[in-house]
Amino acid sequence: MTAKYHLMREGALEESIDLDVVKPVQGPLAVDVTKLYRDQGLLTYDPGFMSTASCESRITYIDGEAGILEYRGYPIEQLAKEADYLEVAYLLLYGELPNKNQLLEFDDIITHHTMLNENLKEFFGGFHYDAHPMAIMVGVVGSLSAFYHDSTDINNPRHREISAHRLIAKIPTIAAASYKHSVGEPITYPDNELSYCANLLHMMFATPCEPYHPHPIAVEAMNLLFILHADHEQNASTSTVRLAGSSQANPFACIAAGIASLWGPAHGGANEAVLDMLTEIGDVSNIEKYIAKAKDKKDPFRLMGFGHRVYKHYDPRANILRETCKRVLDELADNNNPLFELALELEQIALKDEYFLERKLYPNVDFYSGIIYRALNIPNNMFTVMFAIARTVGWVSHWMEMMSDPMQRIGRPRQVYMGPPRRDFIPLDKRA
Ligand code: ACO
Repeated sequence: MTAKYHLMREGALEESIDLDVVKPVQGPLAVDVTKLYRDQGLLTYDPGFMSTASCESRITYIDGEAGILEYRGYPIEQLAKEADYLEVAYLLLYGELPNKNQLLEFDDIITHHTMLNENLKEFFGGFHYDAHPMAIMVGVVGSLSAFYHDSTDINNPRHREISAHRLIAKIPTIAAASYKHSVGEPITYPDNELSYCANLLHMMFATPCEPYHPHPIAVEAMNLLFILHADHEQNASTSTVRLAGSSQANPFACIAAGIASLWGPAHGGANEAVLDMLTEIGDVSNIEKYIAKAKDKKDPFRLMGFGHRVYKHYDPRANILRETCKRVLDELADNNNPLFELALELEQIALKDEYFLERKLYPNVDFYSGIIYRALNIPNNMFTVMFAIARTVGWVSHWMEMMSDPMQRIGRPRQVYMGPPRRDFIPLDKRA
């Protein structure tokens, strides 16, 4: 299919050109502009990639207007209700749900790759005691590149798969170790008897002094949060992983780049920012004041956990989490949970406000995730780390998809240059 476009240069119609149109399985048509520069000498200009599809992908589908999210075609609501995180990880990585044997084998592989090289443990001690755990994550995950010379041939599909397994398996161990470092406790080794999420809680909260048994509700809630955070197509961190990988960088370095991108409060850091915001608002009586601040263009304050580049309707993940949030708080926290009550009230007031309605700003996944993590005793500065653990499988799946694409080439955007035109160098003694 092609589409006809009229090219105007300096106001005058110059010519008509035909551009190929790519038809997706679902979603809007995409105009293929790859030859526009070669054939017409023109670039497209799209800061923030508002209208740009950067690749073909078969992993995740989002319809932001309808509030739909699907992994490999399966609706997020069904996966959230029925599946285990590792089942979803297998689905994202390999494209199909595993059968019983495939799941057992995958579980076994991941479980048996959770240990860290003992030398890697030394790295944690090099960080200041109050380092943000995301800073430790970026450094330590990147440093995995230095440990696995047996499988760094990125052109070998089996090497890529081994790296993917290592990353999914070791990320929780690194995350838990970064937490232990921040509280001055010894690193806890993984326990192969436990599930992926139970093991993470064990590594975070067990000490050598007494037994620790993760609460089943906490394991269930974490499993759900991890499923909801596992992938979200070409978001900032996933695009970062793809761009880093497009230069043939090794997968550990690429995932470290993804973690760095996730850290920002406009992306994964929002769950931490939501809790900070709710604490700052403090009381229902202050909501109006903060809503006014969020609407004031001169005030940098934004309602954290609200708005999304793609969802112009409810983020389906926020809907699922609101219900879970209530259940987790009923079971694990004291019934009088002021932050949850405050969040519910804030949501109700914002959703009736013309400013938020006009701009289609709805709660996103992170509006409720932080409150659940708080109920699980996860400290605020670990919220984004939790997100990074869950998203690792998404990043790795996109990296694997990209690396096996025969059309793959380095990602290299162009620019619209607005700096000074050519000028001659002025020697230092002649400058004003
Ligand atoms: N509070 C107040 N106003 C907002 C908010 C907000 N949270 N989000 C967007 N707006 C306003 C903008 O000021 C802008 O108004 P204008 O048209 O009058 O100028 C309009 O809504 C559009 O906003 P943009 O910033 O242009 O939208 P963009 O798609 O670039 O940003 C983003 C999306 C970054 C998520 C933004 O909504 C935001 O900063 N939200 C708060 C942070 C957050 O919760 N991030 C998590 C996202 S989900 C995730 O990454 C897992």
